[in-house]
Amino acid sequence: NPSNIQMEGSSGLKRVNCRAKGGVPGFKVAILGAAGGIGQSLSMLMKMNPLVSVLHLYDVVNAPGVTADVSHMDTGAVVRGFLGQPQLENALTGMDLVIVPAGVPRKPGMTRDDLFNINAGIVKTLCEGIAKCCPNAIVNVISNPVNSTVPIAAEVFKKAGTFDPKRLLGVTTLDVVRANTFVARFKIIYDYQKPECLKTYVLGLSDAEVLGVDPRDVNVPVVGGHAGVTILPLLSQVNPPSSFTKEEINYLTNRIQNGGTEVVEAKAGAGSATLSMAYAAAKFADACLRGLKGDVGVVECSYITSQVTELPFFATKVRLGRTGVEEIFALGPLNEYERAGLEKAKKELADSIQKGVAFIKK
Ligand code: NAD
Ligand code: LMR
Repeated sequence: NPSNIQMEGSSGLKRVNCRAKGGVPGFKVAILGAAGGIGQSLSMLMKMNPLVSVLHLYDVVNAPGVTADVSHMDTGAVVRGFLGQPQLENALTGMDLVIVPAGVPRKPGMTRDDLFNINAGIVKTLCEGIAKCCPNAIVNVISNPVNSTVPIAAEVFKKAGTFDPKRLLGVTTLDVVRANTFVARFKIIYDYQKPECLKTYVLGLSDAEVLGVDPRDVNVPVVGGHAGVTILPLLSQVNPPSSFTKEEINYLTNRIQNGGTEVVEAKAGAGSATLSMAYAAAKFADACLRGLKGDVGVVECSYITSQVTELPFFATKVRLGRTGVEEIFALGPLNEYERAGLEKAKKELADSIQKGVAFIKK
């Protein structure tokens, strides 16, 4: 019975033990758009997260099937499904973290901004529900164009009187994930004369794939926003410290900025990144939950309300804690190439932010 897909009755809601195994806090997480390409894999990954005690899966289609499927996994989180607008409020009530991958994806030839007309309205409606039912939840916005949907969410929350800039985070983790991968897949050898330094050599791609280092050992800060030139990898700040030639910087920057388009074209009309995005979203959500739990030193890049530049929103490294974003890191020293990239990024970002704000204010 699709109109009655909540897996738990109201007594079940009360019975859920909100401490995960081993006495660690268990958090209540909702995924809005859970039946989509990202949503399904993300639902599975969040069901595997030991910090999640309750997982609410909401969509306007197919939520019952995804819920039934994910709920059979023998992990701790209790899963409940919610289908359609009338069930949105139940899906959101009491949530600690709400993840939003609802909305249409790109097809070849489209920009993320081409999704604005459809996705702006979807994000607005969902955020109105969040403001009403779980105003204190941390919100992770995935729906594109992120550069505009985060300002839309902020305006909805301001209108409702619930806006807390520390709790609204645009998910740009996929840019960092890609940057880490692409940088690591270069052949990197240690310069034993200077052990703190890594030297990089670009080889043919196949050689690089074989000879690169493990992406898990690389960290590239990616700042700005989440579209084209607004995606600004700071290759001068790669950890472990690495040096790149001008050609290498050009190649890596273009590849990182166009990673989304690379997937859209390879999928040839069947959508955009879903699996790597679900991985990235799960990684970011886990960081938010570890922050809520009180872990120290949880640092990720995210597109948030910011005073790092003159723009009201900007992605930088942030430290996550019990109240959400607890520290916003400055950009750090930029080289000439990055300074030029920053100017381009800010110009495009300003328009995207303005478009999002105007959508709610009009
Ligand atoms: P998809 O079409 O596979 O899934 C989207 C889901 O959203 C569908 O199940 C659909 O029914 C649901 N949906 C639509 N309207 C809804 C509403 N009002 N309430 C709840 N659910 C609703 O798309 P996808 O590939 O999962 O991508 C989703 C979004 O994520 C797109 O906008 C895409 O551009 C974006 N995206 C962002 C990033 C990022 O890095 N931030 C990466 C990849 C994709
Ligand atoms: C991505 O970076 O993969 C997403 O923003 C989806 C897209 O449209 O490229």
